[in-house]
Amino acid sequence: MAKDQGDKQGIADKLGLGDVFDGFKPIKSRVDMQGWNSDHQFFTVALNNVPDPKLIIELGVWKGMSCIHMAEVIKANDLDCEILAIDTWLGSSAHLSSAGRREELSPENGYPSIYKTFLSNVKTAGHDDVVVPLPMDGNSAAYALKRLKVQADVIHIDASHEYESALMDFRNYWPMLKPNGMLIIDDYAGWPGVTRAACEFAAEVDRPLFGSHGKALLPKNPHLSFDLRIRGKKRYNRKDK
Ligand SMILES: C[S@@+](CC[C@H](N)C(=O)[O-])C[C@H]1O[C@@H](n2cnc3c(N)ncnc32)[C@H](O)[C@@H]1O
Repeated sequence: MAKDQGDKQGIADKLGLGDVFDGFKPIKSRVDMQGWNSDHQFFTVALNNVPDPKLIIELGVWKGMSCIHMAEVIKANDLDCEILAIDTWLGSSAHLSSAGRREELSPENGYPSIYKTFLSNVKTAGHDDVVVPLPMDGNSAAYALKRLKVQADVIHIDASHEYESALMDFRNYWPMLKPNGMLIIDDYAGWPGVTRAACEFAAEVDRPLFGSHGKALLPKNPHLSFDLRIRGKKRYNRKDK
């Protein structure tokens, strides 16, 4: 894939990140392949409808399951594409405000250590050749990537579930999407703050928002449209209002 192709510059070289998987041995006890809604059909829809995708940016990676799924789609379709995986690997607001969830971060002396789980999962799945981790907060990463003129074909945002920060993420990353690129928004119709931010942002950039169970798709090309098949699916546990 892209990292091995002659003198072609991959995203790790462009950002001066090196190969963080070089010499890394997966920690067997860490490998758990745990994620949420990580194999949603919109990944395939986006990668099949963007011409010759070269770069996916994922903001909100957790233990790597959506990265692993996208890498599978990349390889199944013989695409020459890399995934820049951005996360603090420090968790989200819910890991403090929801009782018992702090333990999900595998804290070591109080500091989250799920980055090791992410590395172990990705390396075990054999996709370290296309996944490039960037441990950074989404806001700082966006400033740097814009300065470095990074442009992506597909952007998957699955970081904060709060209204203000989700809206900020959409505004930060949308300019990095190529003219035929697609934004995939996680937690749409699952978290009210994200749903509100997604709807407002779609109106702000004047694009149709294609919603589904837990994810939404926002094409940058205003002329691109989809007919999505509607089928029944159990919803998240939620209280009826
Ligand atoms: C729901 S998880 C991502 C799940 C993953 N996409 C999957 O399919 O398994 C959300 C992630 O966003 C990260 N995150 C939250 N706020 C962030 C921020 N401001 N910058 C970078 N990462 C953030 C958290 O550390 C967490 O790993």
